[in-house]
Parts: sequence; structure tokens; C-alpha cells
Amino acid sequence: MAAAVVVAAAVAAVAARARPSPERKTFIGMHMPESEPIAIWYAEHRDYARLLDLLEQQVIAFHVDDGPNYELMLDIVNYLRYFPDRFHHPREDVAFTRLVERDPAIKPLVDNLLQEHRVIAAAGTELLKYLEQVVDDVVVERAKVEAAAATYLVYYRRHLALEDRDLVTRAEQLMTRADWDAVLAAVPSGTDPLFGEDCEPRYRELRRQIALAAK
Ligand SMILES: [Fe+2]
Ligand SMILES: [Fe+2]
Repeated sequence: MAAAVVVAAAVAAVAARARPSPERKTFIGMHMPESEPIAIWYAEHRDYARLLDLLEQQVIAFHVDDGPNYELMLDIVNYLRYFPDRFHHPREDVAFTRLVERDPAIKPLVDNLLQEHRVIAAAGTELLKYLEQVVDDVVVERAKVEAAAATYLVYYRRHLALEDRDLVTRAEQLMTRADWDAVLAAVPSGTDPLFGEDCEPRYRELRRQIALAAK
């Protein structure tokens, strides 16, 4: 299939996902058609972007003192620190290494993205710490919470946009089924506790909010 057709199919598949699918597979699953890892890769980025939008809404409510939902903020950052940081980003780390082997010219971009994975994880840990303190009624400087949230949002959104624009398309052009299998073998699949088939109880309210926002 021509690359442009595959991209169009992937984008259409993502656009069709108005809300999380109960049959959600994880990025780079086994026994899927050649184009499916790419479609799922885009879809996971869309999911994370959606979560960042919800987080930003709550950060704005926090800023203007308009009843922010701290539990929801905690759930969002907890999820992002758990699933993407443990599965999505490590798989990308392996996929990016394969990509550089096939196209050494993209090494500077890949090095930058790999570093951002570490920065995003660290920024998420810091934001999580502040949010837990707020929920536990520990006095935290408002400016610190806002700065941590702003840093997280900016970094994460820029990272997703850069990958979508410059990396996923290259992966589609260069990576083979064998490459994807190697990625899967290097980083085992994990159960997605939010978008997966069995949403964990702690994330049910967040999933409801995601569905509401998609309407
Ligand atoms: Fe990434
Ligand atoms: Fe990514």
C-alpha cells in the first residue's frame, strides 16, 4: 500500500475514535496488519493530548480558584506517569533506535526526543508530588504547582506534535513488520488501565470525563 494511503487510513482510524474503544490494543501489538501499529501510535498520542487538555482545564480552574478537581488531576498525571512512561515511551526508545539504523540523518532529532522522554517523566513526578501534597492538605505555593503543570503541558504537547510530524511518518516509511516485532519483544505489552478493555476502578471517573469531553 502506498505510504500516503496508509497515512490517510491511519488518520481516518484515529478520527473515528470519538471515545476510548473497549477493544483497545496497546501500541505495537502482535498479529496486527502492517499499518495498525502506526494507527495505534497516532491514537495513543491523541489520547494523551486529550488528557493534557483535561488537565489544562483543571489547571485553569486552579489558577482562578474555581473549584478544580484535584482527584481528576491526580488521576491524569498518575496515568501518564504509569502507562506512557512505562510502555509507550520505552517502545518508542527501541523503535527510534531502529529508525536511526535505517536513516542516520534523524539521529539528532531522535536524541532530542529520547531526552524529552526523561524530562517528561521527571516533570510528571514533580507535578504528581505537588498534587499529592495539595490533596493531603499540605501547604504548597500556588506558583510552584502552576509552574510544574505549565512545564509538563508545554513539554508533553510539543513532544507529541514533534513525533507526529517528524517521526511517525518516517517510521511508517522505513520500519518493517520485523522491526515492530523486535520492538514488541524488547518491551513487553502492558495492560492499559484507562483506555484498555478493563478500565481500573480508580480511572472510571476520568474515563467518563474523557467521554463527556468527546461529545
Ligand atoms: Fe515519545
Ligand atoms: Fe509518543
